[in-house]
Amino acid sequence: MKLGRSLHPDFGVEIEDLDLREIDPDTEFPRVREAFESHSVLLFRGQNLDDDSHIRLARLFGPLEDRGDFDGFRVSRVTNVELDARPKEVRDSDQNLMNLKANMLWHTDSIFLPVPALANLLHAKVLPQTGGNTELVSTRAGWRKLTDSLKSRVRGKVFLHRYSHSRKKVDPGLAESTLFQKWPDTRWPSLWRNPVNGEEALYLASHTFGIEDMEAEAGEALIEELIDALTQPEAVYSHPWKVGDVLIWDERATLHRGTPWPYEEARTLSSICVSVTASDGLGSMQA
Ligand code: OGA
Ligand code: MN
Repeated sequence: MKLGRSLHPDFGVEIEDLDLREIDPDTEFPRVREAFESHSVLLFRGQNLDDDSHIRLARLFGPLEDRGDFDGFRVSRVTNVELDARPKEVRDSDQNLMNLKANMLWHTDSIFLPVPALANLLHAKVLPQTGGNTELVSTRAGWRKLTDSLKSRVRGKVFLHRYSHSRKKVDPGLAESTLFQKWPDTRWPSLWRNPVNGEEALYLASHTFGIEDMEAEAGEALIEELIDALTQPEAVYSHPWKVGDVLIWDERATLHRGTPWPYEEARTLSSICVSVTASDGLGSMQA
């Protein structure tokens, strides 16, 4: 394996010459993990993972995230087809499409869970002819570049998160679904400090609805201002998917969003999120 090109001047790297089905946990994985900590997004082209090898790879990063939508763990499909592979609450095609639309708001996955996600490992299986890129920004580079006055309004603050908040922006009815009402609000410090390299990153998403000890409207306005500052066009890496791509991102240090495609064409990505553990900085976020 070797490190290839950067995906964006600020973050992201392609890793070449590695078949992820055969990754050696003792020699190759530590190098992949090191690249993940420093670059925040990893791209591997030309992979062919079945669910078992996808799961094996994900487990090297951490415990598999199970939101309890099925009996036991299942690899998720981000898709506009095969609706039976989606939780039953969004199986209806309108609901599923609205849920995909909510994915098109800048977010980090699982910030609303009591134990949030460390990474999403996405693998492209079926793609449309056009559209359907996934876009990412670094909230580490983004934080560094904020003005001092904006920084001082954020440091030391606690942000509040709720899954249904992002769904409400797309459709109030969607937000009512039990799928989005399962967890109590979460509260996390505004910055996630990476325990390996000390780098701080803003930790917020479309799910972020407020700031502790701030009036609701002022909190929402500041959150909007921050997401806007982080996601200016020059900060964005837009990934044009090819079948076989595996993209792995650090949920603690990035925001991402889907982009539209002609929905009569199929698009299916397999996705596994893994949860953070103490060594990823969970303890200091809970303090
Ligand atoms: C996700 C996600 C966006 C996309 O899988 O978490 O937001 O482009 N996907 O499908
Ligand atoms: Mn997502």
